Amino acid sequence: PMPVIFDTDPGIDDAMALYLLARHPALDLRAVTTVFGNASIEVTSRNGQLLAAMFGQQVPVAAGAAGPLHAHAEREFSVHVHGDDGVGGMAALLEAEVPPLDARPAYQLICDMVNAEPGAITLIAVGPLTNLALALRHDPSIVAKVHRVIVMGGAFGTAARCGNVTPVAEANIINDPEAADLVFSADWPVVIVGLDVTHETVMSEAYLSSLQGRGGVVGDFIWKATRHYQDFYQACAGIDGIYAHDASAIAYAIEPEAFTLRSGPVRVVTDGIARGQTIQDFRKLSLAQTPWSGCPAQQVCIGVQAERVLALFEQAF
Ligand code: BDR
Ligand code: CA
Repeated sequence: PMPVIFDTDPGIDDAMALYLLARHPALDLRAVTTVFGNASIEVTSRNGQLLAAMFGQQVPVAAGAAGPLHAHAEREFSVHVHGDDGVGGMAALLEAEVPPLDARPAYQLICDMVNAEPGAITLIAVGPLTNLALALRHDPSIVAKVHRVIVMGGAFGTAARCGNVTPVAEANIINDPEAADLVFSADWPVVIVGLDVTHETVMSEAYLSSLQGRGGVVGDFIWKATRHYQDFYQACAGIDGIYAHDASAIAYAIEPEAFTLRSGPVRVVTDGIARGQTIQDFRKLSLAQTPWSGCPAQQVCIGVQAERVLALFEQAF
């Protein structure tokens, strides 16, 4: 199985992604690292600890960044989407006893594990990319030692897909555009699973309700935790269900053939009205110097067989 460090801001869809990761035999969860995003770092870390325990994962959980790389950057928590407790008001359904946190900050745990097994670890990041950027800064040699980075984030405007915070920016990227730009420009292989594909995969109300009573208490937890999330999507996107954002990154790790990729360097807009926009240079031209020159080609998902992602998640139950 593929050894994975899961970097996350739980988060309802983060919880669902962690469940798929914990359950699938092709993946071997080695650690959970947490980051601010859907809620404060205190809340996302506690959820990370409780969810890992609920899903039977005895792995280190290390708390990471409380805010973006640049202290002056705006910090917003998506509590209107995920609830004050990050899990749609259902935190009480998680285990009462909180397992201890790893003593290291998230970036240190990432560097230690990557250095201990060069070439082996896949980093799957489904929150703001601050911890990965801090790890890169702390030990730039990890770029050559990470097997692959899989990121849920960004919106590339394919198939009329746009941002979910601004017309061009997706939440994980706009929460720390400077960090995302560092991660995408670094010379390690990155696959980006953004809104272009996650908006194609809708977990309908019928699908979610069919999970109730399955997976021990997990199906019920997911049904209850998604009530708040569904209200949000109903009101703002008019869909009768939820988008499978973070679980899509896990699905990519398991079944990459279900996705269509496009290759080219990726940069993030860090200034002005388009702050947080992700742009890939997929032209096959070699032009003079551009802000994309010298950046390695990364892979952006531009198509998905949604039914395969939905089937994978359901099979986890
Ligand atoms: C992303 O933002 C967060 O709210 C979700 O957990 C997901 O990672 C979707 O834009
Ligand atoms: Ca997330």
